[in-house]
Amino acid sequence: MRRFAFVVHPLRFDDFARKYRFTRYLPQGLVETGFKAVGPVMVGHATGVKSITGEELEGWLIGLPLTPKILLESPYEWVLKKLEQAGHMAEKMGAEILGLGAFTKIAGDRGVSLAQRLSIPVTTGNSYTTATAVEGTLRGADRMGIDLATAQVTVIGATGAIGEATSYILAPHVKYLRLVARTLEPLQDLAKRLSEQNPDLSITVSQDVSQSVRDSDIVVAVSSAQDAIVEPEDLKPGSVITDVARPRNISSRVSQARPDVLVLDGGVIEVPGEQADMGFDFGFPPKMVEACMAETMILALSGRLENFTIGGHIAVEKVREIDALGQQRSERMAGFRRFERAIDEDEVELIRQRAKKAMEHPRDLVSHRFL
Ligand SMILES: NC(=O)c1ccc[n+]([C@@H]2O[C@H](COP(=O)([O-])OP(=O)(O)OC[C@H]3O[C@@H](n4cnc5c(N)ncnc54)[C@H](OP(=O)(O)O)[C@@H]3O)[C@@H](O)[C@H]2O)c1
Repeated sequence: MRRFAFVVHPLRFDDFARKYRFTRYLPQGLVETGFKAVGPVMVGHATGVKSITGEELEGWLIGLPLTPKILLESPYEWVLKKLEQAGHMAEKMGAEILGLGAFTKIAGDRGVSLAQRLSIPVTTGNSYTTATAVEGTLRGADRMGIDLATAQVTVIGATGAIGEATSYILAPHVKYLRLVARTLEPLQDLAKRLSEQNPDLSITVSQDVSQSVRDSDIVVAVSSAQDAIVEPEDLKPGSVITDVARPRNISSRVSQARPDVLVLDGGVIEVPGEQADMGFDFGFPPKMVEACMAETMILALSGRLENFTIGGHIAVEKVREIDALGQQRSERMAGFRRFERAIDEDEVELIRQRAKKAMEHPRDLVSHRFL
């Protein structure tokens, strides 16, 4: 039996209330600050995972009661101490590798210092997240009949760990690539490096998310924005958007307002094993997990007990390697999912038809009859 542990934390203030009901009656600042004094707690026990090659796996979910705001705005040494406590808890449970969920891997040096302080390896899960984001996006584009040779492809959060690797992997397959983030210089630097490797690529950079999305056929949203940054009015009919970000980059209003756009939840994976039970409510159906947790599980199942993905840059070779390991162990992408709900081929066909109608009658969009 192989063993892993994975660190989770509340993504939104509301998440506190799901575990600690009394917090719903208290002011946000008070709860966030009060929970800074609380250490890591065991919140779930994953059992019954079994790969097609026969390896079995169990795991522990360790919760840090810290919001993205606290994780990003507190001194990193303090955050590191909290992560170290979680790591020692994982070691005591017998875990052989520790995965970092959501903002616990965005804070500080992304697992590098933590790995030095623990006796077990650490991974951010970002390589597998990138692999599945790209795969899902290309599958979605194919289903929507989008031609990569003429499509405008946009990566929001392009200079981040996942965004940069996603841009590198997409670049050889597309003609028009736009890189979006708030800070111009790293965008220009990335554009330069990508152009050198892909001389036929037509590449642009932008700091304006709404404007960038308006003419985009394919969007990968992978910024670390703490609130939604893409609204229904921004989207092009018939486009495909993969929202990898947690919390989501795409406004929940899009779900109702834009039935002519294929919005995919990036990075949702089905784990193998008939009896698999994650022992924690991620807001997905049973046996579904985030890609970053799936990476931790793949590495444990494969006996690859190493600091696989740490630091701010992801090597493209690692993305390919973890993808191959995942396929061998039968972890696979869940089918298409839109705003936490499975969608089938018929629904994709309906989205295509609505997009055609919206393109034939663009005034419906302008007058918001469609929204
Ligand atoms: N689904 C999964 O399994 C999974 C796994 C891992 C990570 N994630 C999520 O993926 C996202 C990215 O993670 P990461 O590690 O790549 O983050 P990261 O390295 O910190 O990069 C974040 C990127 O977003 C940009 N950005 C931040 N705020 C922005 C805004 N308001 N508008 C436009 N761009 C903005 C940043 O550039 P500027 O600062 O210059 O704007 C940077 O390019 C996070 O939401 C994370 O939770 C999901």
